[in-house]
Amino acid sequence: MPATSVIGAQWGDEGKGKIIDLITDRADVVVRYQGGANAGHTVIVEGEKFVFHLLPSGVLHAGKLNVVANGVVIDPGQLLEELEQFDEGGYDVSSRLVVSGSAHCVMPYHKVIDALREGNKAGIKIGTTGRGIGPAYADKANRSGIRMWDLIDEDRLRARLMANIDELNRRLVAYEAEPLQFEPMFEQGREWGRRLKPLVQDTGRLLRRALADGQYVFFEGAQGVMLDIDHGTYPFVTSSNSNNLGIGPGAGVSPRSIERQLGVIKAYCTRVGSGPFPSELEGKVADHLREGGSEFGATTGRPRRCGWFDVPMVAYAVELCDLDGLAITKLDVMSGLPEVGLVTGYQVGDELLTEYPVDTAIVERAEPRIEFFPGWSEDISQVRSYDGLPATCRAFVEEICTRVGAPWEILSVGPSRDSTILRTTP
Ligand code: IMP
Repeated sequence: MPATSVIGAQWGDEGKGKIIDLITDRADVVVRYQGGANAGHTVIVEGEKFVFHLLPSGVLHAGKLNVVANGVVIDPGQLLEELEQFDEGGYDVSSRLVVSGSAHCVMPYHKVIDALREGNKAGIKIGTTGRGIGPAYADKANRSGIRMWDLIDEDRLRARLMANIDELNRRLVAYEAEPLQFEPMFEQGREWGRRLKPLVQDTGRLLRRALADGQYVFFEGAQGVMLDIDHGTYPFVTSSNSNNLGIGPGAGVSPRSIERQLGVIKAYCTRVGSGPFPSELEGKVADHLREGGSEFGATTGRPRRCGWFDVPMVAYAVELCDLDGLAITKLDVMSGLPEVGLVTGYQVGDELLTEYPVDTAIVERAEPRIEFFPGWSEDISQVRSYDGLPATCRAFVEEICTRVGAPWEILSVGPSRDSTILRTTP
């Protein structure tokens, strides 16, 4: 069976949760391989709304194995909370979840550093989710992180925590912040480790064996291509490889195992946090998109910045990530706009760029060139076939696919599982 990846191809919040939940049906194993509790997947099943931050979106499907792989940074308290919520709701997630021992923990001090750095007037304000993601990945790269293996071993936890707190307290003096206390944090960590121990194992070997045995493995990305630390709008990015290129190191599998690569895009574009956004809009159209699309962060509740669909950016994502197909979401949100726009180029000084420039400083200076197409006024949320869509809506979809260089496979016209148009069986 092939492995499939599903990633966001814009700045996150493309509606991956719904798409992943929809096509997880066929999967045996669902894997998260990067990011942490900065993500927020919203899934609506039979009118009930679920928001997860750390757990893979497969948790709502009985009989699937869910894996939190080594590339994820795990906030143990958050993980336990999500597990409790689902177990209490009758979803019995604990018995279907494994967590990599090599995954790094987000410790309480990572959130303290995240907040202090964001509050530092002399530094760059990224507009992070405040979940301690950057500092946790920084400790990983610094070789001072606490891995799940350490969390479940009291002696290792004590030694690593003591060394880290000692060093951090020296840094906190510069911020004039309260020093960290070792004992309560150690007690908290030990308790987390005791409760999570039964789930911890070598998930890399488990996944390689599952693939070798012909199981259908499904890799779900968090955030989106443009928030990738290497290929996004650095420094206004998250701290992991939030595209499908991160699957190998983030899960311990060969890149050859991924046979089908799906990108999820919105029919328009949003961004939370700071950083360049060439197609950003203000005023009536932005309000229409924000209100109609409930564009408020699933993790922080912040209003999302809204704008037109950006062709050069998504074409870049399609090329970079070698995407086979697209799921286009939130088409229904565009109903009622007299005309719909596509950003098809960037004016930078005297030059008109039609290819996305990877230097963030150029993206910051880009003025969008916008082409307009007729909109549609019909409510399309009940449409279940491509031919049932208004001709102007179909033309807009075709325009997007032709220009970004990938066909659509799934169209989403509403938040629930069944508000979907499939080109083929997923
Ligand atoms: P961090 O990942 O919390 O460090 O935040 C870095 C940047 O990524 C900020 O602009 C966040 O708003 C953005 N970000 C992180 N996670 C998500 C997500 O799941 N959706 C959208 N934006 C995100």
